[in-house]
Amino acid sequence: MSKYSVQAVMLAAGKSKRFNTGNSKLLEKLCGQELILYPAKLLETLNIASTFVLNYQADEIQKVLQSNLRHASYVMQPEPKGTGDALAQTQAQWNHENILVMNGDMPLVTEEILTQLIEKHVSNNATVSFVTAHHPHPATTGYGRVISQDNTFRIIEAKDLQEHHESCCINAGIYLFKKDFLQKHIATLTNENAAQEFYITDLIKIASDEQLTIKTITAPFDHIRGVNTLKEFWTAEQIKRSELISLWMERGVRFDVAQSVHLDVNIQIGAGTRIGAGVHILQGSTIGTNCTIDPFSIIKNTSLGDECHILSHSVISDSFIERECKVGPFAHIRDKSYLKHNAIVGNFVEVCRSTIGTGSKAKHLCYLGDTEMGQKVNVGAGTITCNYDGSQKHTTIIEDEVFIGSNNTLVAPLTLEKKSYTAAGSTITQDVPSESLAIGRAKQVNKEGYAKKFRKKETAPQEEKKNKQKDSGFFGAIKTHNDLLEQ
Ligand code: UD1
Ligand code: CA
Repeated sequence: MSKYSVQAVMLAAGKSKRFNTGNSKLLEKLCGQELILYPAKLLETLNIASTFVLNYQADEIQKVLQSNLRHASYVMQPEPKGTGDALAQTQAQWNHENILVMNGDMPLVTEEILTQLIEKHVSNNATVSFVTAHHPHPATTGYGRVISQDNTFRIIEAKDLQEHHESCCINAGIYLFKKDFLQKHIATLTNENAAQEFYITDLIKIASDEQLTIKTITAPFDHIRGVNTLKEFWTAEQIKRSELISLWMERGVRFDVAQSVHLDVNIQIGAGTRIGAGVHILQGSTIGTNCTIDPFSIIKNTSLGDECHILSHSVISDSFIERECKVGPFAHIRDKSYLKHNAIVGNFVEVCRSTIGTGSKAKHLCYLGDTEMGQKVNVGAGTITCNYDGSQKHTTIIEDEVFIGSNNTLVAPLTLEKKSYTAAGSTITQDVPSESLAIGRAKQVNKEGYAKKFRKKETAPQEEKKNKQKDSGFFGAIKTHNDLLEQ
């Protein structure tokens, strides 16, 4: 595209007043990506160098652009006085024959629209070209209306409309100007309008009055939608989400209830994978082939190997899961956790900064934090690693083929060596040597006949019982564990 001597200016200095959140709409993430990055990345794909005009939240916007684009330049608009004023600030940067100007708030714009505009402009040697779209009810929108009469063009902003301004065509906010035209006329713009702003759109009237060549292309309205309000943001995101779902459907991904699924951009999903209702697959996730992701699971910045099964309501972030693992329902895997081939993490299990080895299982009600686990380990239900002492995190090492009984408390730092066992209900505070059994629990005592004695006390007259309870608090005379053992 650079063969056409085109450079771009992107207008991104506005205050986003109509957004009403206090933040610039351009920083808001639509399908996981900041709004401004959609048109910005498109220009980069087309090899068109871009200058961004910034003011409101300039530092934040520049940071996002810098970390996502290879090259860009930035110009400050001292005060947001309108789109015409924003363009004027970039004058010193104009060094190509044609200047492509775009609003920063159009996330659905496509490569085809820009290519078509540039080609029509260049092949007709036009002075100004711009993109229009049909709208069935233009009067209900805030878009500038394109009025074309007897070979003249002008764009009337919604605020300045009068009754005789009839048109079903709206201005998309993408323009291509000859540099010479801009240099000659940019300073002549005035702010004599309802908004008291300098309108870029007045340049169309100027070109028309001078009988210069003006060309337009018409784009589908959905592709040029601007985002000014949260409602428009919501609509644009719905369209983007549908586009993404259609794309992955074409590539062989099955969605049970497609309209309830949320997908971000920058994800991958393998063919043959099936996605249940209400699933969210967010930024940076790669899902393998033939996986099943059951309803209401959320997967973020995570890699999932082939043929994994994520059962419903699981939340997985920043983790790596090898092929044929089974997770959930209601599992939480996070913070660089690593599940190796065939691992099983079952219901109500949280795994944090931990590795679960090949074929290892933690199937019920566990917390595994800072744990390095070998292969074929079995973690009993209700087991937790005590990895935090209030100031530091400590590691639990569980070597191959260890069997951890149910309801264990593993106090880190701790190593359970190969093939060792721990008894159910244990609190393990010392390393367990290979092939041994660790028992860390109170010894059970059976008090023969005590049940009968106890029942007798239960049937004693109510008054007496009440008094006794008052005296002794609990179970007659039993106050401590030792009392119980001595009886
Ligand atoms: C603009 C057009 C309108 C068109 C619509 C398409 C003008 C006067 N109107 O209206 O004809 O139908 O886009 O979506 O251009 N900005 C600056 N500096 C400023 C003001 C705005 O950089 O001083 C930036 C904004 O950040 C935004 C872009 O310019 O990215 C457009 O501004 P916005 O206020 O959204 O214009 P619209 O009212 O939508
Ligand atoms: Ca806008």
